[in-house]
Amino acid sequence: MSNNLLQGKRGIIFGALNEQSIAWKVAEQAKTQGATFTLTNAPIAMRMGEIQKLADACNATVIPADATSVEDLENLITQSMEVLGGKIDFILHSIGMSPNVRKGRPYDGTNYDWYHKTMDVSAMSLHKVLQVAKKMDAINEWGSVVALTYIAAQRVFPDYNDMSDAKSLLESITRSFGYHYGEAKKVRVNTISQSPTVTTAGSGVKGFDGFINYAEDMSPLGNASALDCANYCVTMFSDLTKYVTMQNLFHDGGFSNTGVTQKVIEKFS
Ligand SMILES: NC(=O)c1ccc[n+]([C@@H]2O[C@H](COP(=O)([O-])OP(=O)(O)OC[C@H]3O[C@@H](n4cnc5c(N)ncnc54)[C@H](O)[C@@H]3O)[C@@H](O)[C@H]2O)c1
Repeated sequence: MSNNLLQGKRGIIFGALNEQSIAWKVAEQAKTQGATFTLTNAPIAMRMGEIQKLADACNATVIPADATSVEDLENLITQSMEVLGGKIDFILHSIGMSPNVRKGRPYDGTNYDWYHKTMDVSAMSLHKVLQVAKKMDAINEWGSVVALTYIAAQRVFPDYNDMSDAKSLLESITRSFGYHYGEAKKVRVNTISQSPTVTTAGSGVKGFDGFINYAEDMSPLGNASALDCANYCVTMFSDLTKYVTMQNLFHDGGFSNTGVTQKVIEKFS
C-alpha cells in the first residue's frame, strides 16, 4: 500500500546484495512510496549479478562503489545527482563486513589488519559518505541519512566480535556528524538498531541461529522482520520525522528494554 510518503524524493541505497538484504526491502518499499533512487554496492558484489534484478523492478540505475573509497563515493554522488536530476533527499547505509568474523578469528585473537578493514567498511564508510556529500552540498535541507546497526554496540554478544566495536563507532559518527550536518544544512543522521535478521551478513555470525531464537523469545513483540525495518526506514526518510536526528532508534520488538520474558523464565524453570 502506498501513502506516497516519498513522492518526489531522490535517494541512494547502499547494500542490496540479494532478496534477503534489508536494503533490498528498503528499495522496494521506497519505490512503492514514490521515491526515485540509485542502487549501489561494492564492485565485487556486482559480480553476483542479483542487484540488476532489483534495479529493473525499481527502474533504478546501479552505480558500483566501494564505500571505503572516497573517489568511488564522489563518483557515485555526482552520477546519482545527474541520473536523478537533482540533489539527494535520503541515503541508506546498509553495509557491514568483518574479515575476523568471516575467517573465524575470536575477539581476543584479532588480526589487526582485518580489524582495521572491519572499521573502515562497517563504520568509517558512513563518515566518508557524509563528508563527501557535505563537501559536494549534495543533500537537500531536511534530507535524511539512515545507517543500520545492532545492539551489540551497547551490550556484549560474544560472537559478534569486532563488529560490536564497528557498530559503536558507527553510532558515534551518527551523533557527531549529525550535529555538524544538522547545523550547517539541516540534514538528519540516525541509526536504526534492527533485530537479528536472516541475511547473508547476519547468518555469517557464529551461533546466529541461537541468538535469533533467543531474541525472538526475549522480545515482547518478537523479532522485527526485514520488511518492517524497511518500513521504518521509509518513515525516517519522510517528512513525518523531520526533527529526529543524531539518534540510535531501536527497531527490535522491545528487546532492548526487556530484562526477561515469561517465555525465557519458563525455559529455565
Ligand atoms: N542481519 C542482521 O541480523 C542485522 C541486524 C542488525 C543490523 N544489521 C545491519 O544491516 C546492514 C545490512 O546487512 P544485511 O543484514 O542486510 O546483510 P547483507 O549481507 O545483505 O548486506 C551487507 C551489504 O554490505 C555490502 N558491503 C560489504 N562491503 C562493502 C563495501 N566495501 N562497499 C560497499 N558495500 C559493501 C555487501 O555487499 C552487502 O550488500 C548491515 O550494516 C548489518 O550490520 C543486520
